[in-house]
Amino acid sequence: AEPGWVTEADVVVVGSGIAGLTAALELRSRVPRVLLVTKGELSSGSTVWAQGGIAAALAPSDSPAAHLEDTLVAGGGLCDRRAVEVLVTEGPARVRELVSRGTRFDTEVDGEMSLTREGGHHADRIAHAGGDATGAEISRALVAQLEAVRDDPGIEVIEQALVVDLLTSAGPVAPTTPDGERRAVCGVTLHVRGAGSRDGVGAVRARAVVLATGGVGQVYVASTNPPQATGDGIATALRAGADLGDLEFVQFHPTVLWLGSAARGQLTLISEAVRGEGAFLVDTDGHRFMPAVHPMAELAPRDVVAHAIVRQMAATGSDHVLLDARHLGADFLRRRFPTITERLLAQGFDITEEPVPVAPAQHYHSGGVITSLAGRTTLRGLYAVGEVACTGVHGANRLASNSLLEGLVFAHRAAADIAARMAAGELPLLPAAPRGGSVGLVMAASRSRIQRVTTAGSGVLRSAESLRTAAAKLAEVRTDANVPEQVPGDLSVQPQTAEWETSNVFQVASALTAAALARTESRGGHFRTDFPVPDAAWERRVVVRLDDDGIV
Ligand code: SIN
Repeated sequence: AEPGWVTEADVVVVGSGIAGLTAALELRSRVPRVLLVTKGELSSGSTVWAQGGIAAALAPSDSPAAHLEDTLVAGGGLCDRRAVEVLVTEGPARVRELVSRGTRFDTEVDGEMSLTREGGHHADRIAHAGGDATGAEISRALVAQLEAVRDDPGIEVIEQALVVDLLTSAGPVAPTTPDGERRAVCGVTLHVRGAGSRDGVGAVRARAVVLATGGVGQVYVASTNPPQATGDGIATALRAGADLGDLEFVQFHPTVLWLGSAARGQLTLISEAVRGEGAFLVDTDGHRFMPAVHPMAELAPRDVVAHAIVRQMAATGSDHVLLDARHLGADFLRRRFPTITERLLAQGFDITEEPVPVAPAQHYHSGGVITSLAGRTTLRGLYAVGEVACTGVHGANRLASNSLLEGLVFAHRAAADIAARMAAGELPLLPAAPRGGSVGLVMAASRSRIQRVTTAGSGVLRSAESLRTAAAKLAEVRTDANVPEQVPGDLSVQPQTAEWETSNVFQVASALTAAALARTESRGGHFRTDFPVPDAAWERRVVVRLDDDGIV
C-alpha cells in the first residue's frame, strides 16, 4: 500500500478564485510558509465566469451608506449589519487595490472607472472589465501576481489537488475562545492528481486552513457555476464539526440561457448588467411583466425577478421567458457585452436581432460556513472566505456583484487575523487526532440522481412535501459504498476525486434540504409554496452542524 506523503505549512489556502488568491497574496508577506491548493488550475473556478462586475461605492455621488441600504434590502432582513458595514466601507479601497495589482477595469473617456447598475442597486456602482468579463480580468491579474512569486520559497502552489478532509485536533481546545471554537483544525488531507512528489493522497499539517472553495452549483441539474463547484468547503467543514448557516438561501439567477429541459451542467449566464443597460423581460406572449411586479421592474432584487419569472412561466404554460435587448442596438451590445454576444451566437442566438429564451438557474449560495468578521469559523484555525463562507453580508439573498467584493474584503481580513494570531502564538501546530473507522462515500454515478432530486425538491420553489420527498430520496443514496477514512499514516485506499466530490455534493444537498425544511416561511432565495410570506419569528439563522445523530 502507498504510504502517501506528509508535509507542513503555516497556512493552507484552499481554492484560487478571488478569495483564495487574495488570501494567499496577503499572507505571503506576513507568514513564513503559505501553501495554496486548487482543484483545477490556478485560473479555474467560479471567479473567471463572473460577468457583471464588482460593486463598490466608487462614484462621488454614491456612498457606502447607500450601498449598505441596498444590500440590507436585498438580504430580506437577515443580513448581519456589522458585516455589511465592513463590506461597503472597506470595499472601495479594496477595489482600488485590485487596480494597483494590475486589474484593468473599463473606464470612461475621462479616465474614471466606468460604473453600471444591476438588480437591487439604486446607484451606478458596478465596476466591470472587458465589458462583461470582469472575473476573468481580476483572475488574470491576481494569477499573474502569484506566478511572479512562484519561485519564492515562502509560497507553494499545488494544482489539481482536492481537499479530501480537514485534520482536527484530538480534543476540545482550551481555553474556549469567545468565538466559541470547540476544536482546532490542524491541516488537510489532499488528493493530488499530478506527477511528482506530491502525487496521490497526502497530508499537510498547518496552523491555519483558509477555505476559499466557492459554491455548490453541482448540487443542481443546471447552474451557471463551473463543474468544480461541488461544495467541497461546506462538506469538509461540516464533517469536521463547524457550524453552517443560511444554507437554504440558494440564489437562482433570473436570466440564464434556456436550452430546453434536457440541458445539464454549466449554462450560459446573461448578466444582469444587460438589464442594467435597459434590456427587458417579456413572456412568450410578448407581454412585459416586471413593471407590474416591482417598482424597479427588471432591476428588482434578484429573488423577486426569478420568482416573477417562475410565476409568469406557470401562467403562460411555458418553460421560459424572453430577454429582449434589441433596442439597445447591435453595436452597443457587441461592444459592451462581447463575451455574452459571442457565447450566445456560438449557441445559435443573436441577441442583437432576437429576444433570447431565458429561465432561472442556480447561480450562487448565500449561506455557508459561519464566520466572524475576521473570517474565523467555529473551529480554531479554520477560516472561510468567499462564497463558501456565511459572513452574514448576504442574508437571505445576495445583492448583485457583492460576491467578488465579499471575497476580496474578507480574504484581506482573514489574512490579517491569521498573521496577528500567529505572531501572538495563538495558532500552534497541533497533532491531528487519529480517526480510523470508515466513511460512506457516494459513487460518482449517483451524482445526476442527487442533482435531479435536489432540483425537484429543494429548487426555486419548495414545500414540506417536496423537501421531505427530496430528503427521503437522498437517504436512499447514502449506503452505496464504504471506504476507510483517510488519515495520515493510513492513506492506502484511494477512491477517485469524482467520488469524494460526489460525496460532498450529497452532503451539501442533504444539509441544504434539512435547513430548507426547517425554515417554515418564504424569504429571499428560499420560497416555500406552503409558507409563501415572510414570518417575523424567522428573522434568525438556521444553524446546521453534524453531531452523533447526523445533521442537526
Ligand atoms: C451578473 O453578471 O448578472 C452576475 C452578477 C452577480 O452574480 O453578482
